[in-house]
Amino acid sequence: MLKAVILIGGPLKGTRFRPLSLDIPKPLFPVAGLPMIQHHIEACVRVPNLKEILILGYYPSSELSQFVADMVQEYKVNIRYLQEFTALGTAGGLYHFRDQIRSGNPEAFFVLNGDVCADFPLVEMVHFHQGKKASLVTIMATEATRQQSLHYGCIVQDRDTSEVTHYVEKPSTFVSTLINCGVYICSTEIFQTFAAAFNKHQQEYYNDASGNGNGKEAAIIYLETDVLMPLAGTGSLFALQTKNWWSQLKTAGSAIYANRHYLELYRSWHVDRLAQGEFKTEKGKEKKCTIIGDVYIHPSATVDPTAMLGPNVSIGAGAVIGAGVRIRESIVLSGATILDHSLVLYSIVGHGSHVGQWTRVEGTPCDPNPNKPFAKMENPPLFNCDGRLNPSITILGEMP
Ligand code: GDD
Ligand code: GTP
Repeated sequence: MLKAVILIGGPLKGTRFRPLSLDIPKPLFPVAGLPMIQHHIEACVRVPNLKEILILGYYPSSELSQFVADMVQEYKVNIRYLQEFTALGTAGGLYHFRDQIRSGNPEAFFVLNGDVCADFPLVEMVHFHQGKKASLVTIMATEATRQQSLHYGCIVQDRDTSEVTHYVEKPSTFVSTLINCGVYICSTEIFQTFAAAFNKHQQEYYNDASGNGNGKEAAIIYLETDVLMPLAGTGSLFALQTKNWWSQLKTAGSAIYANRHYLELYRSWHVDRLAQGEFKTEKGKEKKCTIIGDVYIHPSATVDPTAMLGPNVSIGAGAVIGAGVRIRESIVLSGATILDHSLVLYSIVGHGSHVGQWTRVEGTPCDPNPNKPFAKMENPPLFNCDGRLNPSITILGEMP
């Protein structure tokens, strides 16, 4: 039996997703029509024998309860939200809730960062991990550019055995172009390593001259620095390199990029979710508007027959799209209204926003450089050090 844990952090993070993370927790932001971590859940439920999904974070339970109830109903799998009393780091929560994760005796469990998006190769990871008898953790890894690798966990791997011989979290100088995707499969023996990290912290803080543990909490454990780094070179850490699509989802700009890729993946898994010029309305099927490429339209949205949508557009629940509207490479959230003849490009139109007639809402794409092999999304600051604005997608916040 297998389980999965999705790490979603909490309300103090996600600042780069503002204003979109102000009205809903960032992990529930809809990409290709589904809350971000629903794509993780869908990947997990496709794994045979995966019996339970635990969502781990420090958002108040009330913010996740409806979502969890919806997921249980939709996928008929055990799904629960476990709330950390404070931010415990990427492994502190796993250790704190170890009894919940171990209950039922799973042979292994996945750990997935909530803020990545991918064509997750989970079944392949199970087979790979099972084939490495000594493996405590298998990391999903991918190739990055030399320069971008510094923003990720970097892996040095034995080419023949796939063992991780050296691991550095966000190094300051180049280590390797093979990076950690934030997706793991772990054997339950890993809890001994978590316990060792916890005890080591306790000892260090106990010995701290100030006597107050330097304000640090022994329960805060980081998977990357406290677990993966010491495991590297011991014969128990492996990496499975994938060529599948993968990206971080840290900024609203990356949501547009993720939207396009998840829509494309629907062609393999859920063709029914893609609008075909005619799409499902609550009244049944009828021809609605011109569709180009991959487009998702929520059944409760209203789209004028003269509107033209796509490629790579998602329209949320209850949204109203007026006559002659043109939308491409954008996400329109629930309850938004876009009045006649407006144009929306590379933008996110927030919940309940109202775009008047003959408006141009135009952002700048911030896709990975297509001319650089293995380039990932850049997440540049709003302004360069010389004060120049870094153009990005456009976001319309919620109407008060
Ligand atoms: N439950 C919980 N509690 N989750 C947390 C906490 C915490 O205290 N802190 C972070 N997370 C979640 C975040 O929501 C995110 O999904 C994931 O853990 C990792 O977040 P960060 O700590 O911000 O790390 P990162 O994204 O900069 O880097 C990690 O992911 C990269 C791939 O995206 C590292 O694992 C890198 O090595 C890796 O390359
Ligand atoms: P994560 O997205 O969780 O990784 O947060 P971050 O702190 O790394 O994001 P970033 O460095 O991009 O943001 C720096 C600070 O700018 C944040 O801590 C916020 O206080 C602030 N900030 C970011 N976006 C907004 C915004 O839309 N409005 C306002 N008022 N402040 C913002």
